[in-house]
Order: sequence, then C-alpha cells, then structure tokens
Amino acid sequence: MRMRTMFVAVVALTLVTAYGITTRVRRGAVRLATTGTAPTGNAEAGKGHWVVGNTSCRNCHGADGEGAFGPALAGRIDLTYERFRAQMRSPAERMPAYVESELTGQEIADLVAYFSSLSPPVKPAPWRVELPKDAPRGQQLAVAVIGCAQCHGLTLSTPRHGMFEVNGDWNWFKRMVYDHTTAQREQWNQLDPALPRVTPAPAGPAGRNRIRMGNYSPQRLPESTLKEIYDWARDLGPLATLTGRLAAAPAAASGGATYTITVINAAMKNKGLTAEDVTVAVGLPDNVRVVNATGGGYGGTQRNGEGNTVAVWRVRRLAPTDQQTFTLTLSSAAPTLRGTIRWEKPAVKADDGVTFALPGAGRRGRGAA
Ligand code: HEC
Ligand code: HEC
Repeated sequence: MRMRTMFVAVVALTLVTAYGITTRVRRGAVRLATTGTAPTGNAEAGKGHWVVGNTSCRNCHGADGEGAFGPALAGRIDLTYERFRAQMRSPAERMPAYVESELTGQEIADLVAYFSSLSPPVKPAPWRVELPKDAPRGQQLAVAVIGCAQCHGLTLSTPRHGMFEVNGDWNWFKRMVYDHTTAQREQWNQLDPALPRVTPAPAGPAGRNRIRMGNYSPQRLPESTLKEIYDWARDLGPLATLTGRLAAAPAAASGGATYTITVINAAMKNKGLTAEDVTVAVGLPDNVRVVNATGGGYGGTQRNGEGNTVAVWRVRRLAPTDQQTFTLTLSSAAPTLRGTIRWEKPAVKADDGVTFALPGAGRRGRGAA
C-alpha cells in the first residue's frame, strides 16, 4: 500500500516539475498578447455556464468552485481574465485544454465575474471519486494523478462504452484523448441517427451544445502514462452499447396492462461489437402476474439474485443496429416497471449490466460520463 501511494506521489511530482517552468513562460506570453482585450463578464451568465451550461468543470473544482481535485476558484482576487484564459487554452499540468469553440472568451470572462462575486471557500469539497485502497496502477493514474475518473467514475464507463461502439483500439483511444473535440464529434456523426445515443451527448437544460471533455496534450500526459490507463480499462472489458426501452401499450379490452420492451444494440454498423447470450429481465411488482408474453426467446418467470420475480427473455446475439421487441401483458398496471440487460460475450469484469425503466419510473441506469 505504501509503495502504491508513493507511486502516485512520484508520478504527480514528475508531471509537475517537468512542466512547471515552460508553463510559466507560456502564461506570460498569453498575458501580453491579450492585454486590453478582455471581454466584459457577467456574473449571472457565468453562474449559468458553471451550473447548467453543460460544462463538467464542477466534477473537479467542486459545485461552487470551492476546490476538490482541482484548486478553489471562488473568491480568488488573483484569478484575472488573462490568468483564467491562459489556463483554459494551455493548462499548467493535469487539466485538459478547452478550445474557443467549446468555451469562448466571453464565457471565460463571465466565469471570472461569477467567481469574483463569491466569497472564498472555508474548505475544499472531497474529491468526487476517491482512490480505492488497493487500486491497480492504471486506476491510480485515472483517479488520483490525471483525474479522468473524476468525470468518468471508478471504472471509466463512458470510455469503455466508446470502445464497444466502434471497437476502438489504442489508436482510437489516443485520438479521443489528445484530439477529443474533433474525434468525438466525428464519431457521433457516424452513428445511426435513428438509434439512441449511449455515450452521453451534449444537452443540458439552459446549456449549449458543447463538448464537455477538453483535449489533453501529450507533453503533459505522456503516451506511456495514457497507455497504462488504456490497458487497465481495456482489461475491465468493453461495455455493450445495448439499451432497453419500456413503453406502455394501449389498454387491452380484457383489463390488465401491456408493455413493449425494445432492446437495441446502438453500436456502429460493421465496426461496433456484437453482444452474445443476452438476457433481458423485467422485474414484476408484488401481486402482479404475467398474463401473456410475446417475442422470441421468452423463458417464463424466475427469481433473481435479490429474490424478486422477473420475466426473462434470451437473445442469442445482437449485432450493431439490431433491435428486438417483446411484449408483456400483466394482470394489472405497473407504473414503476424496470428491467436489466446482461450478456455473456464479450465478457466484462466491471459494470456488466444495463438497466432501463418506464419513463417516469426513476433513475435510468449508469450515470453520465
Ligand atoms: C480533471 C479535473 C479538472 C477539470 C474537469 C477541470 N479542471 Fe480546472 N484545474 C484542474 C487542476 C488539477 C488544476 C491545477 C492546474 C493544472 O493541473 O492544470 C486546474 C486549474 C484551473 C484553473 C487555474 C487556477 C489557478 O490557480 O490559476 C482554472 C481557472 C480552472 N482550472 C478552471 C476550470 C474550468 C472553467 C473548467 C471547465 C471548463 C475546468 N477547470 C475543468 C482540474 C480540472
Ligand atoms: C470534464 C470531465 C472529463 C474528464 C476529466 C475526462 N473526460 Fe473523457 N469524456 C467526458 C465526456 C462528458 C465525454 C462524452 C463527450 C463529451 O462531451 O466530451 C467523454 C468521452 C470520452 C471518450 C469517448 C467515449 C465514447 O464513447 O466515444 C474517451 C475515450 C474518454 N472520454 C477518455 C478519457 C480519458 C482517458 C480521460 C483522462 C485522460 C478523460 N476521458 C477525462 C468527460 C471527461
């Protein structure tokens, strides 16, 4: 354990000392070039970009800029527009860079106005994702050194989804990290627009359509370090881009309630991975019976690991863009109906399932990014 902690400290220190000097020089240059051209910021607008503007900065800097994995930003009188902008375009150490198209100079000025309107924090928030006790090296790098996991969670679920979507290899991964803003949009453009998106796409209520992850530089995140993260994540297994949909069908004359269940492999045709030996299970509420079920592979009801009764279908294989629809007629309505999808191949060591539910039945499956 002590060895591992030391490893994290050593890598962090190497990254810091190797690049500290060049950064200072670069920052000076940016400041000169932008003197006198700072846009006028608006604190209200800045709060909007921060809280609902489809940015993910809070994952590292805390909900109110009080600091967490990244430093505090709230109430910092030294955080001028020039300093803020220099960090966004050409970060000092571990943060990815945000280009003008994803975070404009005006938006940066708004953020500066917002943070200078806040009081300095009393103390930083805990990291969003803490380093587990016996984390292997790749996970240590992802969680505690580089910080990918501060957005992507302990098992990097979104990057692993991407691998499944297009069967992405090391070259794909490198490009996604070093040239993210271009590579991610290209990949989205190649996916079938008729199928649901599995990698969380830009949305955000009052937000704008921006890419939320920045671009990493190979100078600050060397390929050898990224390869360790890749090898560890790859070894956990790619995650199927299978998704399920549940919808209520029109009421039957005989009473009861019918639901349709659609299972979709949203990966890219001829590129994404096929899931094999897929099991779809829909949980039945107490005192509700199955009156009828249609669709190939219906296997009746059984008890799952938690002792709940589930209706089960088996699907041999689902290739990219394949869909299967089943119906389930129950003795009475079940407004909180939900289900799970699991598969045997390709095997996964972490997060090996997808959940789905009727609209309005609560949280849907794995969280975003
Ligand atoms: C992966 C975590 C992470 C994310 C995401 C992130 N930051 Fe950072 N940020 C850091 C770290 C770590 C530093 C310290 C310098 C470095 O490592 O580059 C930093 C430094 C900064 C600084 C410089 C503070 C100073 O003292 O000069 C600003 C400003 C900043 N971040 C703003 C943002 C904004 C705005 C976003 C979102 C668009 C963002 N950060 C996203 C981790 C992150
Ligand atoms: C600011 C939070 C954040 C950080 C930090 C971050 N990512 Fe991402 N990443 C995202 C989001 C959000 C997406 C989805 C597209 C978007 O909006 O950028 C994504 C997409 C990806 C994808 C493409 C997934 C797909 O399905 O196509 C890969 C690969 C990836 N990230 C790897 C990494 C790695 C490796 C690191 C660390 C070196 C990292 N990310 C750091 C937020 C982050």
